[in-house]
Amino acid sequence: MDIRIYGDEVLNKRAEEVKNIDEELKQLINAMFIKTPEANGIGLAAPQVGVSKRFFVVVVPESGDDSEVRTKAFRQVFINPVIKNPEGACKMEEGCLSVPGIWEIVERPEKIEIEYTDIDGTMHSEIFDGLLARVIQHEYDHLDGVLFVSRLPKLKQDLLKRKLKALKDKKRDY
Ligand code: NI
Repeated sequence: MDIRIYGDEVLNKRAEEVKNIDEELKQLINAMFIKTPEANGIGLAAPQVGVSKRFFVVVVPESGDDSEVRTKAFRQVFINPVIKNPEGACKMEEGCLSVPGIWEIVERPEKIEIEYTDIDGTMHSEIFDGLLARVIQHEYDHLDGVLFVSRLPKLKQDLLKRKLKALKDKKRDY
């Protein structure tokens, strides 16, 4: 399973709804659950592995000791998600496995509600804030062909032009 890099067409396309959750899809989801922490990521959307379908995984390991704020481990696949009722705004640093080497502060809603189907076909509606709301919104964007760098202020995007071009060119060499 290869992670597609900036410049790959599949990252710019709107992904298609998942029609049925078959064995093939389940295997792909499980492979993504393994690949995400292996690649040191906490989220991975299907288009990032070349599959233009509307689902993504979030895999956040437990972190922090007693002196820090502890983050609980979280592992979930979101199939055909719909984000609703965004609230507030906050700034947080983001990176992306498809845009290696670039980390930038992005402003997004602080709290969201998301409707989605899980791997067993059960529908859920849940509210998230903090890190999970952030990862979910970032991954959801991938389903619409949107990369986090395009959410940056214009000036910042101009400053990143050369780095992004280098990513694109590197890809073309393969
Ligand atoms: Ni990403």
